[in-house]
Amino acid sequence: MDFHLYATCPDEIVPTLVAEIAELGGTDIRSAYKAVHFHATKEVYYAAHRQLRTASRLLRVVREAAAGSSQMLYDQASRIAWPDLFDTTRTFAIDAIAADGKESALSASDITRRVREGVVQSFTRRQLKAPRVDAEAPRVTIVAYVQKGRCTFAIDSTGKSMDKRGYRLEGHPAPLKETLAAAILRMLEYDGTRPLLDPMCGSGTFPIEAAMIALHKAPLIHRGKGEFGIEWLSDFDRELWRATEERQRTERVPATPAPIFASDIDPKFVDLSRRDALRARVERDIQFSVQSFLDQRAPAASGLLVANLPYGTRIGGTPDDVKQLYSDIGDTLKRHFQGWTAALLVAQDSPHKFVGLKPNRKIALMNGTIPAWLLVYEIRAWRPKVAEPQEA
Ligand SMILES: C[S@@+](CC[C@H](N)C(=O)[O-])C[C@H]1O[C@@H](n2cnc3c(N)ncnc32)[C@H](O)[C@@H]1O
Repeated sequence: MDFHLYATCPDEIVPTLVAEIAELGGTDIRSAYKAVHFHATKEVYYAAHRQLRTASRLLRVVREAAAGSSQMLYDQASRIAWPDLFDTTRTFAIDAIAADGKESALSASDITRRVREGVVQSFTRRQLKAPRVDAEAPRVTIVAYVQKGRCTFAIDSTGKSMDKRGYRLEGHPAPLKETLAAAILRMLEYDGTRPLLDPMCGSGTFPIEAAMIALHKAPLIHRGKGEFGIEWLSDFDRELWRATEERQRTERVPATPAPIFASDIDPKFVDLSRRDALRARVERDIQFSVQSFLDQRAPAASGLLVANLPYGTRIGGTPDDVKQLYSDIGDTLKRHFQGWTAALLVAQDSPHKFVGLKPNRKIALMNGTIPAWLLVYEIRAWRPKVAEPQEA
């Protein structure tokens, strides 16, 4: 059986997600705006839920059709055999996307209303009671993506978005999104076989995601029963779901091939990241310490240093303090991390030039709403400049 699926992600992560889907066994892979369309066998489709690290949501396409007007959209929605997909006891909601923005003939609220009416009609035509709408916590979310007079009707198979791994506790003011951290590690070709250090770990997102990669641990393996959207669909195959989960559990290796280090200057964040790692069940695979980046010494001859630098005056100092910190970080890298790759995630309008090293790669990313650079440096041998002797 072949499923037409699409997975969503921020636009700059699309190539990373394409590679991940190809590795998983997806076929006919096609990049789109903030999404990757692909086909999959039932086995690959089931595995993708717990296994994809860089996708935000996974959706199963039900129909693509012309829907240039409100009436056409309603007709198309009502023609879909929704009662075969979910039964009347499930609650549902419509997630409408008017992708043409201001150019859209239909607004998001028009789309929501017409698709909802079409779904209800599809049930009543079969003399079935229509399922109840629950906009807050629906069992089934129908996504209607309308662009250039066409609508893609899909069912959100994942339920809660896939960055919600379940390990995150409150307590850090600027945690990185889990899917972004996983995507960055993938962009850096991290596979667990080289030492990794995050010297500004905050709530521990990089080291925890790295540990899961190194252990071949599926990031959503601990999601509870009923938390995925797919589990509420009528054709849900619980036997295959369980067998897939079992296989994914056995793929986890007992220990990371190379060490993972995490530290932060603030002891309360180190404690928080330890607790997050415990919830992710990778606490034994990460070595935590309280330490300033500036006191770090490379814990191995080579490896990957990855850090999300504090931004602006949030670190509590003046703009000059921030410049000084960036410059001191550059000095620490030059002096003590020769042979390492250092990847710094910085806000584009931060004083990142003060790091004083020329990046080998510069990747534009969005960190939430903040335009950011991932600056990647290969730290080579470095000699401090010796002052020329002055002529007498
Ligand atoms: C942007 S946050 C990192 C967030 C982290 N990536 C996460 O996902 O939670 C930056 C962190 O750098 C830490 N920090 C600030 N100055 C530091 C220094 N000199 N050495 C080490 N850590 C420092 C802060 O305590 C903060 O947790």
